[in-house]
Amino acid sequence: MERSYILVFVLAFLWAHGGIANGESTEDISESWGYVEVRPKAHMFWWYYRSPFRSEDPNKPWPIILWLQGGPGASGVGIGNFEEVGPLDTFLKPRNSTWLRKADLLFVDNPVGTGYSFVEQDNKNLFVKTDVEAANDLTTLLIEIFNRNESLQKSPLYVVAESYGGKYAVTLGLSAIKAIEAGKLKLKFGGIALGDTWISPEDFVFSWGPLLKDVSRLDNNGAQKSDSLAQQIKQELAAGKFVEATDTWSELEHVISSSSNSVDFYNFLLDSGMDPVSMTASELKREISKKRYLRYLNSLRPTPDGDGDLDSLMNGPIKKKLKIIPGNVQWGGQSDFVFTALQGDFMRPRINEVDELLAKRVNITVYSGQMDVICSTKGTEAWLEKLKWDGLKTFLSMERTPLYCGNEKTTKGYTKSYKNLHFYWILGAGHFVPVDQPCVALDMVGSITRSPAASR
Ligand SMILES: *[C@@H]1O[C@H](CO)[C@@H](O)[C@H](O)[C@H]1NC(C)=O
Ligand SMILES: *[C@@H]1O[C@H](CO)[C@@H](O)[C@H](O)[C@H]1NC(C)=O
Ligand SMILES: *[C@@H]1O[C@H](CO)[C@@H](O)[C@H](O)[C@H]1NC(C)=O
Repeated sequence: MERSYILVFVLAFLWAHGGIANGESTEDISESWGYVEVRPKAHMFWWYYRSPFRSEDPNKPWPIILWLQGGPGASGVGIGNFEEVGPLDTFLKPRNSTWLRKADLLFVDNPVGTGYSFVEQDNKNLFVKTDVEAANDLTTLLIEIFNRNESLQKSPLYVVAESYGGKYAVTLGLSAIKAIEAGKLKLKFGGIALGDTWISPEDFVFSWGPLLKDVSRLDNNGAQKSDSLAQQIKQELAAGKFVEATDTWSELEHVISSSSNSVDFYNFLLDSGMDPVSMTASELKREISKKRYLRYLNSLRPTPDGDGDLDSLMNGPIKKKLKIIPGNVQWGGQSDFVFTALQGDFMRPRINEVDELLAKRVNITVYSGQMDVICSTKGTEAWLEKLKWDGLKTFLSMERTPLYCGNEKTTKGYTKSYKNLHFYWILGAGHFVPVDQPCVALDMVGSITRSPAASR
């Protein structure tokens, strides 16, 4: 009796003063994880890593990075963590270039239905239909994790997004800032980094033909076919026909694949290794973003297939370690529904949200891998030039500074900054910048987050 009284007291203390937000943690609390029921019957999974390099100087606060994966429907807890920036790779070997060197890391399976996140009874009405709905769920998650943990509140949070994740990042930025201003969320918002993100689908589809023509993966015929479908997408978007635009986008990817002998959409120097003929159009639409995404990362592994397979890892040893994943939840099991539910928002641009954030003086960093196709540098520069932000003209006229990394003498990229807009051009990288150029990506993220560990 008395004992349980004490236990309740201790739990109440932890609730109020920190400790784990409704979940589990490792004994040394270097990792914690849990579910937040962001809406009734909709459960979002998160996993927090405390950096072993963390320093506690109040004048130089240690940053936290929230990593947002794309897809829609790709798992940050799986892909971002084990294949890109987390402490361990898919063989569970230490990753030397882990971003934990610069910051604490928070991975989420967002939106619900992605990775370990799930909705009860596969209830389709519970999947998010817009980026804004996803941002609201993420804000709820942040409230649950941060409001009860004073130690986390001292660290600025930087949202780093990849691919479709950029559309969540900018809507989340606005939603989180609103919640902070209303006193509902206790969090220091540091800024947003958009890494090869799908901010303006129209600008990307128009970039594909000319880019692939310039690097010889399309000829004039292919480039013309690509351009005419891009024109069709532009008209559909202007008419507010977003689902139709998603269908045409899928058709355009198909045409580019067959005209280029399957260029890899994540790196124009590679073939995708996918056989577009064997897939029906509707399969292609759903699978294109997810399967290709995984296949590209798989192809970079020392031994493709066999050991190191992400799916077996997440549904095997990791599930066992985490303990709290319900038995009937298959990692990634609902992610096709996630894409389908968002198809009316998939092609909607989020340039205005970037403008709103810039006007609110939020630091925005854009980074772009030179060899990416899907979110090409060319398309990224095109949407950037559409910003209404008053610093744009000066920003565009400025010179870039070259980037180097480690002891290497070759140029790794360029950067420039004006006021709260920062841009990094990363050479020798495709869509997955931290995978292709780990050294320069780590330096960059240290600088973006003003990490006390920034200088090595
Ligand atoms: C919350 O705060 C405590 C320190 O008070 C820390 O040890 C713990 O790991 C924090 N993080 C989470 C996600 O609960
Ligand atoms: C690991 O990273 C550190 C610093 O980021 C670097 O100095 C070292 O050479 C790297 N080691 C390997 C084996 O790549
Ligand atoms: C935003 O960027 C500016 C310029 O690089 C920097 O001085 C400032 O500290 C940054 N703010 C945050 C919160 O990172």
